[in-house]
Amino acid sequence: MKQLEKIIDERVQGKALMTQQNTANTKKLFIESYGCQMNMNDSEIVASILDKEGYNTTQKLEEADLILMNTCSIREKAETTVRKRLQKYNAIKKINPSMKVGVLGCMAERLKEKFLEEEKIVDLVVGPDAYRDIPNLLKEVHQGRDAINVILSKEETYGDVSPVRLNSNGVSAFVSITRGCDNMCTFCVVPFTRGRERSRDPKSIIEEIQEMVNKNFKEITLLGQNVDSYLWFGGGLKKDFKKASEIAQASAVNFAQLLELCATEFPKTRFRFSTSNPQDMSLDVIHTIAKHNNICKYIHLPVQSGSNSILKAMNRQHTREEYLELVDNIFKIIPEMALSQDMIAGFCGETEEDHQDTLSLMEHVKYDFGFMFVYSERPGTLAGRKMDDDVPFETKKRRLQELIDLQLKHSLYRTQQHLGKVEEVLIEGTSKKDQQQWKGRNTQNTVIVFPKEHYNIGDFVNVKVEDCTSATLKGIAVGYSENN
Ligand code: SAH
Ligand code: F3S
Repeated sequence: MKQLEKIIDERVQGKALMTQQNTANTKKLFIESYGCQMNMNDSEIVASILDKEGYNTTQKLEEADLILMNTCSIREKAETTVRKRLQKYNAIKKINPSMKVGVLGCMAERLKEKFLEEEKIVDLVVGPDAYRDIPNLLKEVHQGRDAINVILSKEETYGDVSPVRLNSNGVSAFVSITRGCDNMCTFCVVPFTRGRERSRDPKSIIEEIQEMVNKNFKEITLLGQNVDSYLWFGGGLKKDFKKASEIAQASAVNFAQLLELCATEFPKTRFRFSTSNPQDMSLDVIHTIAKHNNICKYIHLPVQSGSNSILKAMNRQHTREEYLELVDNIFKIIPEMALSQDMIAGFCGETEEDHQDTLSLMEHVKYDFGFMFVYSERPGTLAGRKMDDDVPFETKKRRLQELIDLQLKHSLYRTQQHLGKVEEVLIEGTSKKDQQQWKGRNTQNTVIVFPKEHYNIGDFVNVKVEDCTSATLKGIAVGYSENN
């Protein structure tokens, strides 16, 4: 029993979802998510599907009838973390043999039946497009068979499944608008694990947002691997758009139009979106953001490298110059726009000069924040099959550190620009460091903390910024904002 307590006490590395309680349900599901926001949202979809099968979620491993891990394959480390976690579940299963363990998400899709062979503890393997099949697969498992469904779909968007909001502060929520990715960046496993790109019916998106608004949610983040590529023309793969009927083509809805639709339909709701791909981002989107106060002035615009030869090797479909032109245009239209980046240090063939190009691109943009990684070779990708992972690990790490150091400098520069300004903040919860302070974000997505006074979670408040670190603004509320 000691052993069990030790395992249970250990901090869950993935995000274990909060409890949802339906009194009619008798079984318990422990579901944890690794990786991107899309996975978090998918877990909420899975919880909704299993709610109808009699499962309530739990945060207590020891009472779970079913453990599901929604996994990530993006870097080797993400996969190692999941494998280690499975060893822990192994120990629990020895104590509670009737408990079932399932693996969902990108690792399930990548490894398929190999998962069942390599990790004996796993009963169930389900890819990102097969979650509706989980109830059937569970029946198989309960009849003593291993169960697997990793079929990728041309249509599945889970448009009609209303996610159980487990992962939320009650103020902000995620709504998926596209699934899959057609971009085939040579380093990236996502097109293999999440399949081809398809968009969700705008009607079902609006309905889901309406549901959230009715429940008093104040901020919606539209999610996709590549949201700017959103295109609804009646369903099906994005690549088949040209084959669609003339009527379907004429009535198609693109991302700028979807944003416009959301912002006008719900004028009191804040909208964010993620992730944007430089080559697919149109200036129409920027003009739409400029037009609507309730669309946040923040774009996550990954570039990965500042070097043209590396961008080409990565199959990024745009040059350094095109990217910088886009950034300059964005700042011209919306000078207060915040931008963030993803960068990869030490991709195949990256020279010191290429690395300097990345640093100089960062100098030009001065991102508000960023997510930086060392290159991790992924089996099955073009880079994994055809390119030499030839930058020594030590060099990758040193370059990564240089990127991080420069980003910290820029983050501080950006937060300092807020000093003395009064900014609208949506209160999301209590600050982790100080119980007496609220935590929220301004339109640029910068975190801001300030004394609670009489304000409440979910209020839109005007806050005067008085101090900052490179990551956080500190201020004092001066009243409710107009939006409240
Ligand atoms: N469009 C996606 C990108 C997913 S991957 C989105 O919705 O965010 C997120 C980031 O992980 C990428 O932008 C890239 O910087 C990083 N990444 C992807 N594959 C990687 C690899 N093989 N090694 C290191 N970093 C990687
Ligand atoms: Fe991956 Fe490139 Fe798509 S990073 S998710 S293949 S845009």
